[in-house]
Formats: sequence, C-alpha cells, structure tokens
Amino acid sequence: MSKIQSSEGAQYARIMGIGSYRPRRVVDNAEMCTMIESSDEWIVQRTGISERRWASEDETITMMSVSAARQAMERAGIEGSEIDCVIVATVTHMTQFPAVAPQIALELGAQGAPAYDISAACAGFCVGLAQADALVRSGAATHVLVIGVERLTDITNLSDRSTAFLFADGAGAAIVGPSDEPKIGPVVWGADGAAADVLKMTRTWDDDSSDETPTVYMEGQAVFKWASQTVARKTTEMLDKAGLSVDDLDLFIPHQANNRIIDAMMRTLRMPEHVTVARDIKRQGNTSAASIPLAIETLYEEGKAKSGETALIVGFGGGLIFAGQVIVLP
Ligand SMILES: CC(C)(COP(=O)(O)OP(=O)(O)OC[C@H]1O[C@@H](n2cnc3c(N)ncnc32)[C@H](O)[C@@H]1OP(=O)(O)O)[C@@H](O)C(=O)NCCC(=O)NCCS
Repeated sequence: MSKIQSSEGAQYARIMGIGSYRPRRVVDNAEMCTMIESSDEWIVQRTGISERRWASEDETITMMSVSAARQAMERAGIEGSEIDCVIVATVTHMTQFPAVAPQIALELGAQGAPAYDISAACAGFCVGLAQADALVRSGAATHVLVIGVERLTDITNLSDRSTAFLFADGAGAAIVGPSDEPKIGPVVWGADGAAADVLKMTRTWDDDSSDETPTVYMEGQAVFKWASQTVARKTTEMLDKAGLSVDDLDLFIPHQANNRIIDAMMRTLRMPEHVTVARDIKRQGNTSAASIPLAIETLYEEGKAKSGETALIVGFGGGLIFAGQVIVLP
C-alpha cells in the first residue's frame, strides 16, 4: 500500500496585523429610547452600553470586511497575493450560499485562495483564529486572513426592548502567519447544543407563517448565567493550556456582550489590578464576531495596548459556542 505524504508547516504562528471598521452612524441611548421604552440609566446599569454603531446601506458585510482587512494587511506588510486562506466569521451574511469570503478574497487581490465562512456567532473570531493557527502550523496555509464581521441590525427587532439596545454592526480582521516563537496559545473551546434555543433566530427562512425577516430571540438571563459561570470557568483553562498565570497577562479582551459578564469573568480569574480590561461595549454595543478585534483597536488608539503584550481573548454566544486563547499582540 502506498503511503500518503503529510504536510509540514511553521513551528508556531502569530497575529501579524489587526484592522477594524466602525460604521459611521452613532446611535446613543437617547436615540435608542425613541424606539423602545427604556432609559439611558437602565441600559448603562444593566449592560454598560452608552452608544453603538449602526451600518448604513453602503456599509455592507463585504465593504466593512474589505476595509478592516486592508488595514490588517497594511499593518502586517502583506499583499493580497500573499494570502492563501480567507476565513470569514459571520452570522449576518444574508445569502445562504455562496459564502461571502470568496468575494472578499477577490476584492483584496487574494483571488484563487481558499475562502469560506464560519457560523460560530460571537465566538467566531476566536474560532477563526484557532483555525488559522492550526492551518499555518499544519502547512495548509502560510498567511491566513481571519475576519469577524456583522450587521446585527439586519436581524434585530428594533422595537424589542429585551434585545434592541444590545446589538450593533462592525468588522475586525487579523492576518495570521508563521512565527519563530509561540504567539497564539492553544484554543479552549466547546458547544452546548442542548441550549440552542436560548439565543437564536425567531423563525427559519423557509417558515411561511410570516413575511417578516427572522430576528434575534434571546433569553437574556440564561445566556448571562452561562457566560458568567460556565464560560468564565473555562477562561482559567485558557491560561493553563498556555502555561501562564493571570499575573502574566497584560490585557483581558473578552467578547463585548455585557459589562456585568466581564466583571464576573474578572472575579473568576481573580484578575490582578495591573491587567487592562477591554470595555469597548460602552461605545460599540455587541458586535458579535467583530467585537474582539474592534476592542483591540480601541485599546491601541487609547494607548492602553502595545505590540508584544500578552492578552487573553474569549468569545461566546449563540449555539451555544465559546472559544478563547492567549495571544501576543502584533
Ligand atoms: C438583556 C439583559 C441586559 C436584560 O437584563 P435582565 O436583568 O436580565 O432583565 P430582565 O429581562 O430580567 O428584566 C428586568 C426588569 O427590567 C425590565 N426591562 C427589560 N428590558 C428593559 C429595557 N430595555 N429598559 C428598561 N427596562 C427593561 C423588565 O421589564 C423587568 O422589569 P420588572 O422587574 O419590573 O419585571 C441581560 O439579561 C443580559 O445582558 N443578558 C446577556 C445577554 C447577552 O450578553 N447576550 C449576548 C451574548 S453573545
């Protein structure tokens, strides 16, 4: 029997550059309260959100992705022709197929590279990063572009006072390539299909009972409990697998879903005071797969994050799915 040859990749992988795109339109809590019966005080106290960005018609999934990716490529010093895999994490590309990733690859000059979408909701960026790390180390790719992008407002019922104020739009991107040293820690990830119904679409696309677009349905307290207990406990495993303790961290950059979930994770981790914690939720709301790279961008802009620093990132959301790892910032 003939023996199949296996591929060999780089020993380690790293993030070479990060980019982001924030939609132009800012919607503050005062404007939000013209759509739902609520108050700035209630929204800030329950979630930490003061304002969010909503995409206009021209700020499509492709447009926002290409813009974020170009910034990441420029920072990484990588041309489109050098990208040999494009992964797009999104749940708001409204065409069932084809995936949006091949069109994004075409616009970026990465025509011909394998390109595909993944549906892992708010865990999407960390899942994509885990795939990119594995692809680079296996030799299947040398430079992988990972994009997290959402237009959650397309699937949000803006008159539903239990969800309308939470969700927002945006894109983030990262170029992952070979490294001499380990700069992406082992992923810790998982899913719980038994809890699929606590965060989902109100109907399927082929449900004839209504002409309305399906929107997000959420049992807020069930999601809150899972994130602040189950996922919070998993964050310690993310550090253990990277061989680090919480004292080794410079930054903690969790998915931006709710300030109180972030607080619960910090308590579980017994977060030391020197660790900078991302609170981008205040200005961006919950942008699902885009929230972690967007939060990294804000930390750079505010001078709170520097190249070479060590960060724990963790995404969690519909599925239910979670994923997280330790990274070294580019
Ligand atoms: C959505 C969320 C903020 C709601 O907060 P909550 O404390 O669970 O709120 P509840 O639904 O229990 O409602 C509590 C009270 O606030 C009221 N309320 C609900 N929505 C409101 C709003 N938008 N404005 C003002 N009051 C509101 C309710 O009517 C209720 O009033 P009552 O006590 O008089 O009956 C919270 O559950 C949450 O953040 N969950 C996690 C969601 C999440 O992060 N999802 C994404 C994960 S990727």
